[in-house]
Amino acid sequence: MSDGTVYLVGSGPGDPELLTLKARRLIDEADVVLHDKLPGPDILAEIPDDKREDVGKRAHGEVTSQQYINERLAELAHEGKDVVRLKGGDPTVFGRGGEEMLYLAEHGVTFEVVPGVTSAIAGPEVAGIPITHRDHASSVTFVTGHEDPDKEESAVDWAALAAGGGTIVVLMGVTRLPEYTAALVEAGMDPETPVAMVERATREGQQIATGTLATIVDARDGAGIEPPALTIIGDVAGTRERVVDFLAPTETTDD
Ligand SMILES: C[S@@+](CC[C@H](N)C(=O)[O-])C[C@H]1O[C@@H](n2cnc3c(N)ncnc32)[C@H](O)[C@@H]1O
Repeated sequence: MSDGTVYLVGSGPGDPELLTLKARRLIDEADVVLHDKLPGPDILAEIPDDKREDVGKRAHGEVTSQQYINERLAELAHEGKDVVRLKGGDPTVFGRGGEEMLYLAEHGVTFEVVPGVTSAIAGPEVAGIPITHRDHASSVTFVTGHEDPDKEESAVDWAALAAGGGTIVVLMGVTRLPEYTAALVEAGMDPETPVAMVERATREGQQIATGTLATIVDARDGAGIEPPALTIIGDVAGTRERVVDFLAPTETTDD
Protein backbone atom coordinates (compact mmCIF):
# COMPACT_ATOMS: atom_id res chain seq x y z
CA MET A 1 0.00 0.00 0.00
CA SER A 2 1.34 3.44 -0.82
CA ASP A 3 1.74 6.11 1.83
CA GLY A 4 -0.92 8.74 2.37
CA THR A 5 -0.46 12.51 2.35
CA VAL A 6 -0.61 14.88 5.30
CA TYR A 7 -2.40 18.20 4.73
CA LEU A 8 -1.56 20.96 7.19
CA VAL A 9 -4.77 22.93 6.86
CA GLY A 10 -5.73 26.34 8.25
CA SER A 11 -9.38 26.55 9.34
CA GLY A 12 -9.58 30.35 9.56
CA PRO A 13 -10.68 32.29 12.65
CA GLY A 14 -13.81 30.28 13.39
CA ASP A 15 -16.65 31.33 11.08
CA PRO A 16 -17.26 28.24 8.90
CA GLU A 17 -17.82 30.54 5.91
CA LEU A 18 -14.18 31.61 6.23
CA LEU A 19 -12.97 28.04 5.78
CA THR A 20 -11.46 27.83 2.28
CA LEU A 21 -13.08 25.67 -0.37
CA LYS A 22 -9.91 23.58 -0.42
CA ALA A 23 -9.99 23.06 3.35
CA ARG A 24 -13.63 21.99 3.13
CA ARG A 25 -12.87 19.48 0.35
CA LEU A 26 -9.82 18.02 2.11
CA ILE A 27 -11.73 17.59 5.38
CA ASP A 28 -14.49 15.79 3.48
CA GLU A 29 -12.01 13.52 1.67
CA ALA A 30 -9.62 12.83 4.59
CA ASP A 31 -9.42 9.46 6.31
CA VAL A 32 -8.49 11.14 9.60
CA VAL A 33 -8.68 14.74 10.89
CA LEU A 34 -6.34 15.62 13.76
CA HIS A 35 -7.39 18.82 15.49
CA ASP A 36 -7.35 20.82 18.70
CA LYS A 37 -10.02 23.25 19.94
CA LEU A 38 -8.88 26.36 18.09
CA PRO A 39 -10.84 25.78 14.84
CA GLY A 40 -13.91 26.43 17.00
CA PRO A 41 -17.11 24.52 17.72
CA ASP A 42 -18.96 25.35 14.49
CA ILE A 43 -16.25 23.92 12.24
CA LEU A 44 -15.48 20.91 14.47
CA ALA A 45 -19.17 20.01 14.67
CA GLU A 46 -19.21 19.41 10.91
CA ILE A 47 -16.48 16.74 11.03
CA PRO A 48 -17.85 13.20 11.40
CA ASP A 49 -16.93 11.76 14.81
CA ASP A 50 -15.51 8.58 13.32
CA LYS A 51 -12.65 10.43 11.64
CA ARG A 52 -11.87 13.04 14.30
CA GLU A 53 -8.87 12.75 16.60
CA ASP A 54 -8.65 15.49 19.23
CA VAL A 55 -5.01 16.23 19.98
CA GLY A 56 -5.72 19.35 22.02
CA LYS A 57 -5.84 19.75 25.76
CA ARG A 58 -6.56 16.60 27.73
CA ALA A 59 -8.33 16.26 31.08
CA HIS A 60 -6.69 18.07 34.03
CA GLY A 61 -5.21 20.69 31.69
CA GLU A 62 -2.61 18.32 30.20
CA VAL A 63 -1.57 19.08 26.65
CA THR A 64 -0.87 16.45 24.01
CA SER A 65 2.84 16.73 23.25
CA GLN A 66 4.00 18.03 19.89
CA GLN A 67 6.17 14.94 19.63
CA TYR A 68 3.09 12.71 19.88
CA ILE A 69 1.30 14.74 17.20
CA ASN A 70 4.31 14.60 14.87
CA GLU A 71 4.64 10.83 15.31
CA ARG A 72 0.91 10.25 14.88
CA LEU A 73 0.85 12.21 11.60
CA ALA A 74 3.74 10.18 10.20
CA GLU A 75 2.31 6.89 11.48
CA LEU A 76 -1.08 7.47 9.84
CA ALA A 77 0.53 8.51 6.54
CA HIS A 78 2.72 5.39 6.58
CA GLU A 79 -0.46 3.34 7.08
CA GLY A 80 -1.69 4.79 3.77
CA LYS A 81 -4.12 7.29 5.27
CA ASP A 82 -4.73 10.79 3.95
CA VAL A 83 -4.62 13.01 7.01
CA VAL A 84 -5.80 16.56 7.62
CA ARG A 85 -4.02 18.32 10.47
CA LEU A 86 -6.55 21.09 11.09
CA LYS A 87 -5.32 24.24 12.79
CA GLY A 88 -7.01 27.49 13.76
CA GLY A 89 -6.29 30.46 11.50
CA ASP A 90 -3.29 29.81 9.27
CA PRO A 91 -1.20 26.71 10.00
CA THR A 92 2.17 28.46 10.21
CA VAL A 93 1.22 31.62 12.14
CA PHE A 94 2.11 30.58 15.69
CA GLY A 95 0.60 27.25 14.76
CA ARG A 96 3.62 24.94 14.93
CA GLY A 97 3.03 24.05 11.28
CA GLY A 98 6.72 24.70 10.66
CA GLU A 99 7.76 22.03 13.14
CA GLU A 100 5.34 19.54 11.63
CA MET A 101 6.61 20.25 8.09
CA LEU A 102 10.19 19.58 9.17
CA TYR A 103 9.29 16.39 11.02
CA LEU A 104 7.29 15.03 8.08
CA ALA A 105 10.08 15.79 5.62
CA GLU A 106 12.63 14.13 7.90
CA HIS A 107 10.41 11.04 8.06
CA GLY A 108 9.75 10.76 4.35
CA VAL A 109 6.10 11.84 4.47
CA THR A 110 4.59 13.81 1.58
CA PHE A 111 2.68 16.84 2.79
CA GLU A 112 0.93 19.97 1.59
CA VAL A 113 0.36 23.23 3.47
CA VAL A 114 -3.09 24.70 2.88
CA PRO A 115 -3.15 28.37 3.95
CA GLY A 116 -5.98 29.66 6.10
CA VAL A 117 -7.30 33.10 7.04
CA THR A 118 -5.22 34.05 10.05
CA SER A 119 -6.98 35.55 13.04
CA ALA A 120 -4.10 38.01 13.26
CA ILE A 121 -5.53 39.82 10.22
CA ALA A 122 -9.19 38.77 10.34
CA GLY A 123 -9.61 39.75 14.01
CA PRO A 124 -8.67 43.40 13.54
CA GLU A 125 -10.66 43.58 10.30
CA VAL A 126 -13.97 42.47 11.77
CA ALA A 127 -13.48 45.08 14.49
CA GLY A 128 -13.11 47.83 11.85
CA ILE A 129 -9.32 48.02 12.15
CA PRO A 130 -7.10 47.81 9.07
CA ILE A 131 -3.66 46.52 10.10
CA THR A 132 -1.98 48.93 7.66
CA HIS A 133 -3.17 52.32 6.45
CA ARG A 134 -1.38 54.87 4.30
CA ASP A 135 -1.76 57.57 6.96
CA HIS A 136 -1.11 55.48 10.06
CA ALA A 137 1.07 52.41 9.59
CA SER A 138 3.20 51.05 6.80
CA SER A 139 4.38 47.98 8.67
CA VAL A 140 2.87 45.37 10.95
CA THR A 141 4.43 42.90 13.36
CA PHE A 142 2.83 39.74 14.71
CA VAL A 143 4.15 38.78 18.12
CA THR A 144 3.41 36.31 20.88
CA GLY A 145 2.33 37.79 24.19
CA HIS A 146 2.94 34.50 25.90
CA GLU A 147 6.40 35.47 27.04
CA ASP A 148 7.27 37.48 30.09
CA PRO A 149 8.71 40.81 28.81
CA ASP A 150 10.85 41.01 31.95
CA LYS A 151 12.55 37.73 31.13
CA GLU A 152 16.14 38.43 30.17
CA GLU A 153 16.11 36.11 27.20
CA SER A 154 12.67 37.19 25.89
CA ALA A 155 12.38 36.41 22.20
CA VAL A 156 10.26 39.54 21.69
CA ASP A 157 12.17 42.82 21.69
CA TRP A 158 9.40 45.15 22.94
CA ALA A 159 11.73 48.17 22.94
CA ALA A 160 12.48 47.64 19.24
CA LEU A 161 8.75 47.31 18.53
CA ALA A 162 8.06 50.53 20.44
CA ALA A 163 10.64 52.31 18.28
CA GLY A 164 9.39 50.77 15.02
CA GLY A 165 6.23 52.83 14.66
CA GLY A 166 4.16 50.16 12.91
CA THR A 167 1.10 48.21 14.01
CA ILE A 168 1.71 45.49 16.62
CA VAL A 169 -0.68 42.53 16.70
CA VAL A 170 -0.23 40.37 19.79
CA LEU A 171 -1.46 36.78 19.80
CA MET A 172 -1.78 34.79 23.03
CA GLY A 173 -1.51 38.06 24.91
CA VAL A 174 -4.47 38.30 27.30
CA THR A 175 -2.78 37.39 30.57
CA ARG A 176 0.45 39.31 30.08
CA LEU A 177 -1.25 42.46 28.77
CA PRO A 178 -0.16 44.54 31.82
CA GLU A 179 3.48 43.51 31.39
CA TYR A 180 3.89 44.19 27.68
CA THR A 181 1.85 47.42 27.59
CA ALA A 182 4.06 48.69 30.44
CA ALA A 183 7.19 47.54 28.57
CA LEU A 184 6.10 49.50 25.46
CA VAL A 185 5.43 52.68 27.47
CA GLU A 186 8.70 52.29 29.31
CA ALA A 187 10.45 52.02 25.95
CA GLY A 188 9.01 55.38 24.91
CA MET A 189 5.66 54.66 23.26
CA ASP A 190 2.96 57.28 23.89
CA PRO A 191 0.58 56.01 26.62
CA GLU A 192 -2.26 57.50 24.54
CA THR A 193 -1.54 55.08 21.66
CA PRO A 194 -4.84 53.41 20.69
CA VAL A 195 -5.24 49.72 21.56
CA ALA A 196 -8.04 47.25 20.84
CA MET A 197 -8.65 43.68 21.95
CA VAL A 198 -10.77 41.26 19.93
CA GLU A 199 -11.94 38.03 21.54
CA ARG A 200 -13.42 35.13 19.52
CA ALA A 201 -13.27 37.05 16.26
CA THR A 202 -15.93 35.88 13.75
CA ARG A 203 -17.44 33.43 16.25
CA GLU A 204 -20.27 33.39 18.67
CA GLY A 205 -19.35 35.46 21.70
CA GLN A 206 -17.14 37.88 19.75
CA GLN A 207 -16.20 40.75 22.04
CA ILE A 208 -14.19 43.92 21.50
CA ALA A 209 -12.59 46.22 24.05
CA THR A 210 -10.85 49.48 23.20
CA GLY A 211 -8.63 51.92 25.02
CA THR A 212 -5.07 53.15 25.00
CA LEU A 213 -1.80 51.72 26.25
CA ALA A 214 -2.65 53.41 29.55
CA THR A 215 -6.25 52.18 29.85
CA ILE A 216 -6.53 48.87 28.00
CA VAL A 217 -5.94 46.68 31.07
CA ASP A 218 -9.00 48.21 32.75
CA ALA A 219 -10.95 47.91 29.49
CA ARG A 220 -9.98 44.23 29.23
CA ASP A 221 -11.16 43.59 32.77
CA GLY A 222 -14.33 45.64 32.31
CA ALA A 223 -15.30 43.68 29.20
CA GLY A 224 -14.15 40.35 30.63
CA ILE A 225 -11.93 39.60 27.63
CA GLU A 226 -10.61 36.03 27.69
CA PRO A 227 -8.55 33.89 25.30
CA PRO A 228 -8.60 33.42 22.39
CA ALA A 229 -8.08 37.12 21.81
CA LEU A 230 -5.81 39.49 19.91
CA THR A 231 -4.39 42.83 20.97
CA ILE A 232 -3.91 45.47 18.27
CA ILE A 233 -1.59 48.31 19.22
CA GLY A 234 -1.04 51.41 17.09
CA ASP A 235 -2.80 54.34 15.49
CA VAL A 236 -4.82 52.02 13.24
CA ALA A 237 -6.69 50.81 16.34
CA GLY A 238 -8.23 54.30 16.50
CA THR A 239 -9.96 53.68 13.17
CA ARG A 240 -12.59 51.58 14.88
CA GLU A 241 -14.31 54.47 16.61
CA ARG A 242 -14.62 56.30 13.28
CA VAL A 243 -16.35 53.38 11.55
CA VAL A 244 -18.04 51.41 14.30
CA ASP A 245 -21.49 52.92 13.75
CA PHE A 246 -21.42 51.65 10.18
CA LEU A 247 -20.15 48.11 10.81
CA ALA A 248 -22.94 45.80 9.71
CA PRO A 249 -24.07 43.68 12.63
CA THR A 250 -23.10 40.05 12.24
CA GLU A 251 -24.53 37.00 13.94
CA THR A 252 -21.42 36.96 16.13
CA THR A 253 -21.31 40.65 17.09
CA ASP A 254 -21.59 41.16 20.81
CA ASP A 255 -20.52 44.72 21.54
C1 LIG B 1 -1.55 29.25 18.97
S1 LIG B 1 -2.07 30.77 18.27
C2 LIG B 1 -2.64 30.20 16.70
C3 LIG B 1 -2.90 31.30 15.71
C4 LIG B 1 -3.51 30.78 14.41
N1 LIG B 1 -2.60 29.90 13.73
C5 LIG B 1 -3.93 31.91 13.47
O1 LIG B 1 -3.34 32.07 12.40
O2 LIG B 1 -4.90 32.59 13.80
C6 LIG B 1 -3.53 31.04 19.19
C7 LIG B 1 -3.88 32.51 19.33
O3 LIG B 1 -4.45 32.97 18.12
C8 LIG B 1 -5.38 34.01 18.42
N2 LIG B 1 -6.69 33.60 17.89
C9 LIG B 1 -6.98 32.49 17.20
N3 LIG B 1 -8.27 32.49 16.80
C10 LIG B 1 -8.80 33.65 17.28
C11 LIG B 1 -10.10 34.26 17.19
N4 LIG B 1 -11.10 33.67 16.53
N5 LIG B 1 -10.26 35.45 17.79
C12 LIG B 1 -9.26 36.07 18.42
N6 LIG B 1 -8.03 35.54 18.54
C13 LIG B 1 -7.80 34.36 17.97
C14 LIG B 1 -5.37 34.20 19.92
O4 LIG B 1 -4.42 35.20 20.22
C15 LIG B 1 -4.89 32.84 20.37
O5 LIG B 1 -4.33 32.91 21.67
